[in-house]
Amino acid sequence: MTRPYGGRLFKPTPTPPVQPYTVIGAKDARYEIVEKIDQYEPGEGFLPVHINDRLGEDGDGRYRVINKLGSGSYGTVWLCEDLDPQQPGECRWKAVKITMCSDGGIESGLAEKRIRRDVMERCRCAPAQAFEIGLGIPSDYFEIVRDGGREVYCCLVSPILRGEISEECFYLSRNDPKLLDFCYNAALAMQSLHKMEIVHGDFRSTNILVQLPGMDKLTLHDIKQIWGKPRVIMTEGKPNDHYPAYLAVAARPDYEKLKECLQVYYGDKGEELLDQPKIAVVDFGGSWNPKQKRKKSTFIPTAYSSPESYSDTYYVSFESDIWALGCAIFYLLTKKDPFCHGIAGAPHMGDLMREWEEFIGTPYPNSKVRAATLEDAMRQRVTRKMADWRKTKREAIDKTGARSYLEAALLVAGIYPPAVADWVDLFKRIFTWRPEHRIKIEDIINHTVFEHCREDEPEKAYPFDK
Ligand SMILES: Nc1ncnc2c1ncn2[C@@H]1O[C@H](COP(=O)(O)OP(=O)(O)O)[C@@H](O)[C@H]1O
Ligand SMILES: [Mg+2]
Repeated sequence: MTRPYGGRLFKPTPTPPVQPYTVIGAKDARYEIVEKIDQYEPGEGFLPVHINDRLGEDGDGRYRVINKLGSGSYGTVWLCEDLDPQQPGECRWKAVKITMCSDGGIESGLAEKRIRRDVMERCRCAPAQAFEIGLGIPSDYFEIVRDGGREVYCCLVSPILRGEISEECFYLSRNDPKLLDFCYNAALAMQSLHKMEIVHGDFRSTNILVQLPGMDKLTLHDIKQIWGKPRVIMTEGKPNDHYPAYLAVAARPDYEKLKECLQVYYGDKGEELLDQPKIAVVDFGGSWNPKQKRKKSTFIPTAYSSPESYSDTYYVSFESDIWALGCAIFYLLTKKDPFCHGIAGAPHMGDLMREWEEFIGTPYPNSKVRAATLEDAMRQRVTRKMADWRKTKREAIDKTGARSYLEAALLVAGIYPPAVADWVDLFKRIFTWRPEHRIKIEDIINHTVFEHCREDEPEKAYPFDK
């Protein structure tokens, strides 16, 4: 079924003769990434989208939905074919993010639009060039308006990226130079953003994606091979204007197929294209310029938020991004979050405060807040997950004989032991109570841990390989 969105009519493409998706059962669906059906709440939620739908402004249906790429708290992201590229040679394969039509969703879509404009103005560049410096700002923006203007969905178009950096790094050995390059490039992207006076606000590893160059040559057949046939979970009840007939699973590109296809067009260079540790930071829905607007907190989940987000005396700003970058780098190196790892939802503030204290090595500076939070925590039951996590940390310390969990985590992760002291130094400078004591992004980039990533350095053997 082809569904037009927007105001005016367009000529629909014929319905394909075969079902364009595979239905999976509840058992297979358990570990898949899908949004929840109640996130389609009428007048508040996501736009129901189906495979082969055509999205576009004024009902022009410019973007045909081929597969699903992901979903987050504010949007669903779709792999689309651009049926009307504006530039000669422009890539037809695009990611279209559609935000929720709630106030928060619209706010986040408009923030992304604003950041796109700011980045283009400040670095006097087109979105494609911003990608070169690791900023995945949208190349295009349009709105889908329904229900007589009561439902507005912001749509952000960008190049297709390969997947989240954490998934990519999961398969790399801890001492693979590429892993370090990914971390370094994430720090460089943050530096570019901060130079433009933009705070990202949600700098988590799920918002750092790996770039996918060479896509412009791929055919529809290639795309279908690489991302596979869409897999969907049927929803209960009748689909209507608000609820979709099914929820599509986020598809991931098959590395081998991707390599094969790129080799057809680029020869040996195909694999090289895939091997580049280029990243793009996405999701600017919570980004802002702190010189224009002061904020007390960001959208980032509790486990990644900095202590100043809970303080009356501070505003959140560039330093809060640095804290989040520290959490992301720590995760990429150790496959664990530094604080309250594996605790679903928001960890209890008292637990989080204890974790910070263990990491930083001194008590939370505001004794009044500390006393109240810890007293509150005493009354809480320690959850099984939290107890397991504390046990994991104790075991890591016992196993390695390290002085702190920070050091133990790096050793357990298999970081080359002589490099551990430098990493401990970097994390200690990132995870500070007070934002004014926190290391600046320039100093992270110049830190010894990234010595071998810096281009101006003469070629040296990577120390971890010794
Ligand atoms: N350009 C893209 N290419 C491929 N996948 C993407 C792209 N943009 C987003 N995604 C996927 O969709 C997810 C949600 O997108 P994001 O912009 O972070 O939305 P939200 O604001 O809802 O978190 C990302 O974590 C990622 O997995
Ligand atoms: Mg996101």
